[in-house]
Amino acid sequence: MNAMSHVLTAVAWPYANGPRHIGHVSGFGVPSDVFSRYMRMAGHDVLMVSGTDEHGTPIQVQADAEGVTPRELVDRYNRVIVEDLHGLGLSYDLFTRTTTRNHYAVVQEMFETLYRNGYIVAKTTLGARSPSTGRTLPDRYIEGTCPICGYDSARGDQCDNCGNQLDPEQLINPRSKINGETPEFVETEHFFLDLPALAEALNKWLDSRDEWRPNVLRFSRNLIEDLHPRAITRDLEWGVPVPLEDWRDRNDKRIYVWFDAVIGYLSASIEWARRSGDPEAWRKWWQDPDARSYYFMGKDNIVFHSVIWPAILLGYDGEGSRDGKPGKFGRLELPTEVVSSEYLTMEGRKFSSSRRVVIYVRDFLERYDADALRYFIAVAGPESNDTDFTWSEFLRRNNDELVAGWGNLVNRSISMAAKNFGAIPTPGPLTEADEALLATVRAGFESVGALIAKHRQKAAISEAMRLVGEANKYMSESAPWKLKEDKERMGTILYVTLQAVSDLNTLLTPFLPHAAQRIHELLGGTGVHAPMPEIVEVGDLDGGPEYPILTGDYTVGTRWEPTELPAGRPLAPPTPVFRKLDPSIVEEELARLES
Ligand code: MF3
Ligand code: ZN
Repeated sequence: MNAMSHVLTAVAWPYANGPRHIGHVSGFGVPSDVFSRYMRMAGHDVLMVSGTDEHGTPIQVQADAEGVTPRELVDRYNRVIVEDLHGLGLSYDLFTRTTTRNHYAVVQEMFETLYRNGYIVAKTTLGARSPSTGRTLPDRYIEGTCPICGYDSARGDQCDNCGNQLDPEQLINPRSKINGETPEFVETEHFFLDLPALAEALNKWLDSRDEWRPNVLRFSRNLIEDLHPRAITRDLEWGVPVPLEDWRDRNDKRIYVWFDAVIGYLSASIEWARRSGDPEAWRKWWQDPDARSYYFMGKDNIVFHSVIWPAILLGYDGEGSRDGKPGKFGRLELPTEVVSSEYLTMEGRKFSSSRRVVIYVRDFLERYDADALRYFIAVAGPESNDTDFTWSEFLRRNNDELVAGWGNLVNRSISMAAKNFGAIPTPGPLTEADEALLATVRAGFESVGALIAKHRQKAAISEAMRLVGEANKYMSESAPWKLKEDKERMGTILYVTLQAVSDLNTLLTPFLPHAAQRIHELLGGTGVHAPMPEIVEVGDLDGGPEYPILTGDYTVGTRWEPTELPAGRPLAPPTPVFRKLDPSIVEEELARLES
């Protein structure tokens, strides 16, 4: 990927049903931000969008649990989540929500066009209802014996034992998870996305996805082999209305949350364009075949991004077996790549808010720095394996690597230069060892950049930290503190070290943007080195209520290339950039779990 291009970073939309914990942000949050920051620094025109996912059963169930309306619930947690993501420095061009009028209109346009093209069909099916309350029972709130493997706690949507997708009426001895009663099944009409009519087009598209991780490709191909029409409406009051005659004004049927949420990528891009002053600007990321789009999520989201969303787009474009014509937006491009992560566990267990096996982002950020978490996620997160977060490992990574490795190099080089020269020293002639270090660090722009572009962030940050190690070694071996008698050589060594620090700081900027800005300033730099998102209260573009968005100006900031440090630039004694943590935090945090 050399030429500058338009890059869409499409980040999974968190449900607005609670604050985010670090498991959530390790899957979709930090990796998508590292990627976007790098791509911008490398000169690409990035559009990074997402928002809170505010419809569906997860919202309805939590609203019931808290005794509030869905609207009250999502208003509360949309704001909380915006603050969580802001605290981590995630550089969204637009983080919005799915309850905007713009989103409703875009979803309805997609639905109408798919319907017109023949890819949405109506069917009568059996729906589960609670006999005692008369309310529809969502699939995942029904439990019973799996008809395929005999597992006795299969859910109405899927069996966690054999992994098969199920319909609730297939379960043997179905019962409600809410109160144990046997649901009754009644006839109800729903709309289905006709996936079989899109299967051939989907297959053809998957055949051209040669850069994907093999596990994602294999998983997606398996799904396509056995496609059935999929219900895209639900018996719910909360959600986007079905935009058809006789359905528009019903308040018992809504579009299925997953159908509306994936369309958020498009509606958020359109909202961003409308807010930017050029309402057509979104087209550069969606209609130019040279533009690329990268979708970031946890692995439980893969099917929706590698099959359902592409199917919706193909149907909208009129490219399935029933043909058809694109709707009013025109033809839309499919995902370039689906980048999925595995799961993070916490001290060997699944995250669970109810059992308090959890650490929320906001609590984490009250006690620790955002970059300490970003570092842990990048270097030890669930990129391609399930991985475990432990407090002792967090402590070790923070103290031994971030503080003792990178922080120490920054601190001792800048303080020595400040103390002895009060400025970036003017170098004398460079030795071979000096040149070698500078060349080694400079080579990082190639190696680290290529790894980030290929979604190998663990390897990328490890490579950057290896270069930090090289610079530390150079400084120790050159021992400038022994050269009080040879000020010129001392100045040269410090100049070389500071130049390496400056370039290493650029290499680490996608991962550690807060620290990078500070180090930039400690080196005497001014202006924005690593741009940060801001929270802005905005009015709904089409007359709905106000809400907070995340946005920012990311066109400023340092480029992905070496920058020559100007000799003579004044330096002040530094204050530490990273905080060393006391080992007692491990016991304290463990005591908080399950307390
Ligand atoms: N809200 C979903 C979850 O938390 C993710 C939605 S991603 C989108 O699992 F594609 F639908 F937007
Ligand atoms: Zn089963």
